[in-house]
Amino acid sequence: MTESITFLSQTRPNCELSACGLTLNISRQRLTCVQYENLLQKAKDCGLIDKQRQMVDGDVVNVSEKRQALHTSLRSEDINSPHYEEVNQTRERMYALARAVREGQWLGASGKKITDVINIGIGGSEMGPHAVYHALRDVNPSIRLHFLSAVDGILADRILSVLDPETTLTVVSSKSFSTRETMLNAELVNEWYAKAGIVGKEKRAKHVFLVSAKENACELMDLPEQNRFPIWSWVGGRFSVWGAIGLPLVIALGPEVFSAFLHGAYEMDRHMLSAEPEQNLPLTLALLSYWNSTELQMQSHCLLPYDERLRLVVAWLQQLEMESLGKSERPDGSVITSRTGQAVWGGFGNEAQHSFYQWLRDGSGRTSIDLVWCEEAGHRHAHHHLVLNANAQAQAQALVTRQTPSAEFFNAVSTICIKKLTPETLGAFMALYEHKTTMLATLYGLNAFDQPAVEYGKRLCRELEAKLAS
Ligand code: F6P
Repeated sequence: MTESITFLSQTRPNCELSACGLTLNISRQRLTCVQYENLLQKAKDCGLIDKQRQMVDGDVVNVSEKRQALHTSLRSEDINSPHYEEVNQTRERMYALARAVREGQWLGASGKKITDVINIGIGGSEMGPHAVYHALRDVNPSIRLHFLSAVDGILADRILSVLDPETTLTVVSSKSFSTRETMLNAELVNEWYAKAGIVGKEKRAKHVFLVSAKENACELMDLPEQNRFPIWSWVGGRFSVWGAIGLPLVIALGPEVFSAFLHGAYEMDRHMLSAEPEQNLPLTLALLSYWNSTELQMQSHCLLPYDERLRLVVAWLQQLEMESLGKSERPDGSVITSRTGQAVWGGFGNEAQHSFYQWLRDGSGRTSIDLVWCEEAGHRHAHHHLVLNANAQAQAQALVTRQTPSAEFFNAVSTICIKKLTPETLGAFMALYEHKTTMLATLYGLNAFDQPAVEYGKRLCRELEAKLAS
């Protein structure tokens, strides 16, 4: 283990790589240059980029469910990408609806302008849109988004009690259209509309839209066919923010912002497929995570954004990595005995300094950390930004520096500097972590696109609900 106490910067002169407005610094990772070169060789040996290309080209990479995993097609600008036409058609429909709502041509059933949108959905049908809205929303948005996720009446009451059904549009997002939480919340919101006199297909069609892969979803909710925006079996829920699951975002932020978000992600896809391994951001993150988990036995990974706008990206990443990599069996059923995906957690770095940094700095655990900041501020309070970034950069060092000499070895830190947080760089940032995740699945030999254990929990809950109700 002694060797791995070394910082990469002690044996490798260049530890910084940049793409798509993001600069990754890996100088505080714990490995030698030789160990790093071996990792790069491993990436070549296991065809890491080739596997990614197979995914992008539409091979059936989700072998347990016999599906493609084509989230990259949702943002592709290449007319030869799989499903290009249907993706574009759906996106045009989303943009048309969003423009009509934003420009006041699409009105509620009683003729009032829409001011609020409720997203009913959970997991991948909530976390991506929520994180993006939090990052890109105006201080005082003209159309506000609300997220009704858990099946907790408190949440529903808090949202519904401050909204006017006549000026509120609801998007029920569920790929399966069977998630209990979402269905129950949709029933509640339907009742809320009914109490306001918004009943019958024609009036409800002005207020309720569905995003689902289930073709008869509209029939089930007594809505006209055109009120459904499709998502497809070939996109995993946690990878789905780029398609119709993003509909509430398009309405609240506008098609131009959403397009720029997709463009940034597409640029990261191109970088991932074409950059040399030494310069490849997602590949580097994946290799270091693999090293930290399997060699250094770091069981958890902590994401510490120093920017309010990135606060909810932590929860999004948690689902992305932990549902994708929280497995210990290969697709052929054989058991993996070494470590696989890390537990992902974190929080807004500046707040976390006054909360869990003590544990990070002085506890007995070892954690791999990504610390993120934005070079340019998203506001006009220059000194606030200076202090925030001074904290970020100081902590990047403090988190690998022990004051007590007794225990020398601890955290490994990477930093990511975002030049300026824009829809493009946010898209690139989120796509970066998606590719990190799918590359890790290749390194571990896992299928990143199923979640069998979660399905089991849902089944048990259904049985218990029936029992309790009777
Ligand atoms: O509970 C797990 C899960 O299946 C996630 O993978 C998914 O994002 C979420 O539930 C919501 O699923 P759906 O979009 O089908 O409602």
